[in-house]
Amino acid sequence: MFYTDRLMIRSFDPDTDLNLMTQWLNDVEIMSAISLHPPVACSKADAKKFMEKIVQKESKLPFFLVCEKPTPGTDPASLGKHEDLFSKDGTARYPFFGILNMGSPDEMHFATRVVRWGIAFDRDHQDRGYGSELLQWAAEYCFKTLGAHKVELDVSAANVRALHVYEKVGFKKEGLRKKRFWINGHWEDMVEMGFLEEDWFATHQ
Ligand SMILES: CC(C)(COP(=O)(O)OP(=O)(O)OC[C@H]1O[C@@H](n2cnc3c(N)ncnc32)[C@H](O)[C@@H]1OP(=O)(O)O)[C@@H](O)C(=O)NCCC(=O)NCCS
Repeated sequence: MFYTDRLMIRSFDPDTDLNLMTQWLNDVEIMSAISLHPPVACSKADAKKFMEKIVQKESKLPFFLVCEKPTPGTDPASLGKHEDLFSKDGTARYPFFGILNMGSPDEMHFATRVVRWGIAFDRDHQDRGYGSELLQWAAEYCFKTLGAHKVELDVSAANVRALHVYEKVGFKKEGLRKKRFWINGHWEDMVEMGFLEEDWFATHQ
């Protein structure tokens, strides 16, 4: 598991995270922001199958959950022991409020070393600086740890907050696909963004 100043970035655990994930997969606003598919109602069994596919994807790139960082010293999970992530009743001691999915656009990812991101926070945790903090960590993780050559993502042209955060972290706009998202009865353009390793290494060690 990984830490930033305020966040703990951990894996999905079906025993403790599936109920909350089912709620997320039924959240029309979140699903419209992160998926090209129209939102559908999702049962717990569907959520389980979906998560199995996401977690065990062929690229082996990680799917992360984002939650509050345990308080150093006083909190057992700050010691990094996996079992301390769970309360006695089996629920997550640190429920997630964000997701960061890393995937690959094609099966040639070892040759091209391109990683794609999907990111979302629940409403209560947006606009608190968590997105910027997480993506700065994620860029370092991709370029320094995974040895990625490039990170790519697609975002609706109407999602000005996300566009601002991505550009702040280091992404550049690379293309525009007209009328690519059908959201709530109207078309939105899709902005294609990319972040090259040389741009990250130019400003980081
Ligand atoms: C997009 C998202 C990941 C960003 O994370 P976040 O934690 O909310 O972002 P931060 O708080 O770090 O930063 C928000 C920035 O956007 C700015 N901002 C907020 N609303 C804005 C708006 N309407 N127009 C322009 N900028 C805006 C803030 O001022 C802040 O900029 P600053 O740090 O330079 O002051 C998060 O809002 C989210 O999950 N949204 C819903 C799902 C989603 O859209 N996912 C992305 C799909 S590609």
